[in-house]
Amino acid sequence: MRSRLVAGNWKMHGSLAANRRLLEALKAGLHASAGVQYTVCVPYPYLAQVEAALAGASIAWGAQNLSEHAQGAYTGEVSGAMLRDFGCRHVLVGHSERRALYGETDKRVAGKFQAAQGAGLIPILCVGETLQERDSGVTEIVVGRQLAAVLDSSGVGALVNAVIAYEPVWAIGTGRTATPQQAQAVHAFIRGVVGRQDAKLAAGLSIVYGGSVKGANAKELFTMSDIDGGLIGGAALVAEEFIAICAAAGQV
Ligand code: PGA
Repeated sequence: MRSRLVAGNWKMHGSLAANRRLLEALKAGLHASAGVQYTVCVPYPYLAQVEAALAGASIAWGAQNLSEHAQGAYTGEVSGAMLRDFGCRHVLVGHSERRALYGETDKRVAGKFQAAQGAGLIPILCVGETLQERDSGVTEIVVGRQLAAVLDSSGVGALVNAVIAYEPVWAIGTGRTATPQQAQAVHAFIRGVVGRQDAKLAAGLSIVYGGSVKGANAKELFTMSDIDGGLIGGAALVAEEFIAICAAAGQV
């Protein structure tokens, strides 16, 4: 069976006090469950706080971005090795907000994917189309291109230590979730693209869905055959919601 992952993406939210409350509630509400992993991807300044709070708990943690470079004169950037220093297990790569607001190209995202693995992190590679792209019928072309950039530079074998997150841009933070069928179709497409290069690897690859996942809709998404968990934004900031989503991942 593929392992399931529920990843919280806190985005640029939080404070020491708010994080403390959220982490305490998550620790009290989330317990190790066979086949399901939980992680929270937090803003860089809070990594030390999260590392201390989650030591010994059944919740991993990570960051939301990293530099494609290992070190050097890159003011304001953070390397994969620095993230490892704070116990990070995961890192988001190519989130649509990074692509759209900070101009991250497929090439740069592929470089970040490689840098993450080079540092021993598990990249959560985000792909997804905009509403305009969906409406013009090019969803598979866009997602295929985003995937190809990584497959071409790292090789299909690299996906053994990676997670793919399908996040339709039109569903992120909008309250408009893709229907389970819409999400399933793209997940199956992604698995198919990988499967053409390595069928066994594709069968074991975790592909999670992101975009307005909540406690109330998680289960119907997670029951789809190619959806292996979720990448959660807004609902990851509300302990009961995140716990309910994690519970849904454990039930299917
Ligand atoms: P959302 O965000 O759950 O708030 O839609 C998901 C994401 O951007 O990863």
